[in-house]
Amino acid sequence: MSVHVDAAGNIRGCYSATQPSMPRLLIGSHLDTVPRAGAFDGVLGVVLGVALVNLLAGRRLNFQIEVVGFSEEEGVRFGVPFIGSRALAGTAGDIDVLVLDAIRAFGLDPSRIGEARVGDDALGYLEFHIEQGPLLESLDFPLGVVEAIVGQSRVDVVFEGKANHAGTTPMNLRRDALAGAAEWICKVESEAQATHGLVATVGRLQVQPGAGNVIAGTALASLDVRHADDAIRKRAVAAIQEHANEIATRRGLSVSWECRLDQASVAMDPLLMENLKHSVRVSGYPLHQMVSGAGHDAMIMATRMPAAMLFLRSPGGISHHPDENVRAEDVAAALMAGEAFLEKLRESALS
Ligand code: GLV
Ligand code: MN
Ligand code: MN
Repeated sequence: MSVHVDAAGNIRGCYSATQPSMPRLLIGSHLDTVPRAGAFDGVLGVVLGVALVNLLAGRRLNFQIEVVGFSEEEGVRFGVPFIGSRALAGTAGDIDVLVLDAIRAFGLDPSRIGEARVGDDALGYLEFHIEQGPLLESLDFPLGVVEAIVGQSRVDVVFEGKANHAGTTPMNLRRDALAGAAEWICKVESEAQATHGLVATVGRLQVQPGAGNVIAGTALASLDVRHADDAIRKRAVAAIQEHANEIATRRGLSVSWECRLDQASVAMDPLLMENLKHSVRVSGYPLHQMVSGAGHDAMIMATRMPAAMLFLRSPGGISHHPDENVRAEDVAAALMAGEAFLEKLRESALS
């Protein structure tokens, strides 16, 4: 393969076809991860792409294969996910100045991000990923074909009060930003509990000035809201914002609300899905179709080309945690299905 790093920091390995003019299948997933992560979320999909090319043992097909290791999918460092895949899809848009600085510090030229966009020769995109949930394990199935990926919203929320002395300020004269944030976080939880299929999470909270004997002046919180139905997700986000405003007003705080992501749910491509289902079956594995509650680069690539995803069972349903794991025999199953997928695509590209 010929390998290069594009201006968004994606590692891209190209395996040529029998002829240079032939279209291209992309296979990818992400290289970044979350704090205190496991070893498989993302990078397993990149390794499986490389392994599939390796299994071809030099045999050239009637389409090129480009394996992509996406640079930034989780959105942990800058609060905005999918930076690498959005560069490929050509939807990177206005990139945050902190991201631009990080790209330059990495020795890349962000003014060339436009060049990372995939050309019109793309046949489609395939992503292998651990399920990150308990469903396949409960069915005792090694693989699952993804039919859709739920939409997600991410918001930065800041409660501002007044920092003051913890010993001398009477309770009725306080404007405690952390107490306000804490009340709101419980409302986030109850809003999700009351709505079927909705998940809502505050996973990060920073308190300033952050001393045990100082009332919190500022509390910065993350918000992550997901649902398969975009309208329900948007309604929930609006209700959660309303709770923040009501709590802030009652407690003499101010609250700011910055939406960092409003990503619609996406369906996977019917034809590529059929191919993947066939590939799972001919490889001798039972078939299960499922919706992904986690976000994936596939949801961005799907805005630009047909996309499909294959899940591998997650032991214990654990992910975003050091105990995250995968079974070797499930990786072998994914490889077998991947080989069948390439073969089926080769046949259909002939016709
Ligand atoms: C990616 O792991 C996500 O947040 O769904
Ligand atoms: Mn992840
Ligand atoms: Mn992932």
